[in-house]
Amino acid sequence: MANVVIVGTQWGDEGKGKVVDLLTERSDLVVRFQGGNNAGHTLVVGDKKVILHLIPSGILHKEKLCIIGSGVVIDPEILLDEINALRQKGYVVSPESFAISDRAHVIMPYHKMIDHARDTTQRIGTTGRGIGPAYEDKARRTGIRMIDLINEDMLKKKIENIFDEKQEYLSTILKIKGLDKEEMLVKFKDLGKHLKPYVRDTSIVIDKASKQGKNLLFEGAQGGNLDMDYGTYPYVTSSNTIAGQACVGSGIGPTMIDIVLGICKAYTTRVGEGPFPTELNDETGERLRAFGGEYGSTTGRPRRCGWLDLVALRHSIRISSISYLAITKLDVLSGLKTIKVATAYKSGEAIMEDMPADLCMHPNLELVFDELPGWEENISDIRQYDELPENCKAYISYIEKNLGIDAAIVSVGPKREETIIPKELF
Ligand code: IMP
Repeated sequence: MANVVIVGTQWGDEGKGKVVDLLTERSDLVVRFQGGNNAGHTLVVGDKKVILHLIPSGILHKEKLCIIGSGVVIDPEILLDEINALRQKGYVVSPESFAISDRAHVIMPYHKMIDHARDTTQRIGTTGRGIGPAYEDKARRTGIRMIDLINEDMLKKKIENIFDEKQEYLSTILKIKGLDKEEMLVKFKDLGKHLKPYVRDTSIVIDKASKQGKNLLFEGAQGGNLDMDYGTYPYVTSSNTIAGQACVGSGIGPTMIDIVLGICKAYTTRVGEGPFPTELNDETGERLRAFGGEYGSTTGRPRRCGWLDLVALRHSIRISSISYLAITKLDVLSGLKTIKVATAYKSGEAIMEDMPADLCMHPNLELVFDELPGWEENISDIRQYDELPENCKAYISYIEKNLGIDAAIVSVGPKREETIIPKELF
């Protein structure tokens, strides 16, 4: 195939899981490179339902090596539960099929406590999994890495160093109690023991595979507009979600990447707080939520729904140098009389075709829309691009033309086979 990076182009939940699953068939090694168990997807294989938050879904395929890279923050308890649940369902998780970067940072109990408590005062609507506070400690150089977790002495030293400060912050500023040093030490030592067999320098593993001519797949989480630098700050996640992070979070350089595939839902959704210019607080929004099953896979929260937003997409495509699109959930739009697409934002007299850095400062944005005719037919059974309804093809062409890139994949339903390849692009 080639070495491919998959990223979301909107605010997450674009349907990356299915596309990753499709491309895993053609890859030898899959790397998750950022985020943590704030992400998640449910996969249905035969009669088995598997929910994965951390381990790449490639683990469900035999003969694939799955890696959690250094850019990920890991909740070791969740990871161990995931490994055990996979084993119970008959999947093989061994050091030959799964590796964790020794440099990945660990989410500690105090990170989760801080995340929960802070979100009541600084409303971001986080997933409450401790993601932001863990990345904060990484940048502050007080983080605990996987290499520390698997070394009892180092773990003890690191916890001793940070404990008093965390305790003070939790009790004095956030007014919460309950952090127990001894309990934490015992529990994390044990988690470290269980995870130790998988911990390696994964950059070396990836490099070796590449030199052997293996096909590499880099799996992003969340979406471009949740990126810490380029998203709708401060309503973002705490990692870089863009394609460049595939390099940093895996320990490789940019010349190793051949293709960046951007996953784009046929409409837009967002969970949590923050600006969402094309949001629909009406019957159409409710219809998209109901037909698209738009409820968070990690927290179960109803997703906010709205029309496609070309401003947000143009921004994502540029910052990730996206080569091709995968348009997902196109079937959800069937039955709509017309479909709107935002082409620009309008603030006073100013027309904005590019995402402004201060989007949060424009609560009363007007939108410039194009309106396209919809189609009646259910399209989930269609497998050939030419057999799609004319208005559906016109919608795809409109997106391709306005964003200046082609769609390599069109998804018309949640199942693996409910997929159309308009043209073989890679
Ligand atoms: P955090 O990543 O838990 O810190 O949450 C920060 C923001 O990112 C919140 O608005 C979350 O709802 C959003 N977020 C985090 N992970 C995902 C995801 O996988 N899909 C969609 N939104 C997400």
